[in-house]
Amino acid sequence: MTTTGPIQDFSGDVAAYYAAYRRGYPPAVLDALRSAFPTADGAVLDLGCGTGQLALPLAGRARTVIGMDPEPAMLGLARAAAERQGIRNALWLLGSDADVPALAGVLPEGLALTVIGNAVHWMRHEELFRALHALTRPGGGVAVIANGTPVWAQDSDWSRALHRALAEHFGRPLAASCGTAAADRDRYAAALAAAGFTDVHETVVDYPDELTFEQLLGTVWSAIPASELPAPADRPAFADRLRAALPPERTGYPEHVRVSLLTGRG
Ligand SMILES: C[S@@+](CC[C@H](N)C(=O)[O-])C[C@H]1O[C@@H](n2cnc3c(N)ncnc32)[C@H](O)[C@@H]1O
Repeated sequence: MTTTGPIQDFSGDVAAYYAAYRRGYPPAVLDALRSAFPTADGAVLDLGCGTGQLALPLAGRARTVIGMDPEPAMLGLARAAAERQGIRNALWLLGSDADVPALAGVLPEGLALTVIGNAVHWMRHEELFRALHALTRPGGGVAVIANGTPVWAQDSDWSRALHRALAEHFGRPLAASCGTAAADRDRYAAALAAAGFTDVHETVVDYPDELTFEQLLGTVWSAIPASELPAPADRPAFADRLRAALPPERTGYPEHVRVSLLTGRG
């Protein structure tokens, strides 16, 4: 595995929280991929697959899915979930964006589709998009997907209160967008076009959701670098501080989830 530089540490308990609490993708997102690439057939790469949020549901709709991620703990949980679900057409590859060009040697037919969900901000996207363009089969393409706005960066009272509490705990403001903001999408769109992808455009899938406090807390823990996760014995006190900082939970913490798919045809 080659690495491109410092990557967020998704090891250990962070991976477990990710698998247990991070939201997946509703069927409408998979339908949007199918509409964008109706003739794409062959291997699908999920780069930065994490614990399989996209790779697992995609396996039911693709010939083969390659889930690729540089973090062994995330990849191991994706593989375990695939086994539990009886998925037989998924491969799990330890690797980063810098390893993508090497796929050419083992995929002579190229890739039907590459999806990158909530992960492109850790990649050298310009080099990556060029490598993917060279690997993409006719009719196929790339989808750079942002799965909603981070829970601490939303336009709501509870999200602002969460951000204040987390900033106080960590002694710094948290990343505002993780690649999900409009300005990020514009940069990625320009880079996709520069790499040779055509018909580059954004499709959005909107839906309302509501998180329980437990889901909210698990999501926060899934987004903290493993080195900064409170020790297990300190987590209940951390949870109590967050709960006290948030407005009272009525039925839950409501949010409006916007999934953005930036697609380009190869
Ligand atoms: C926020 S998770 C996203 C997981 C999943 N794709 C999703 O949509 O929920 C980001 C993943 O990107 C991986 N990652 C970080 N740097 C990467 C890189 N340079 N190349 C590929 N994956 C990377 C991390 O290990 C992590 O599993």
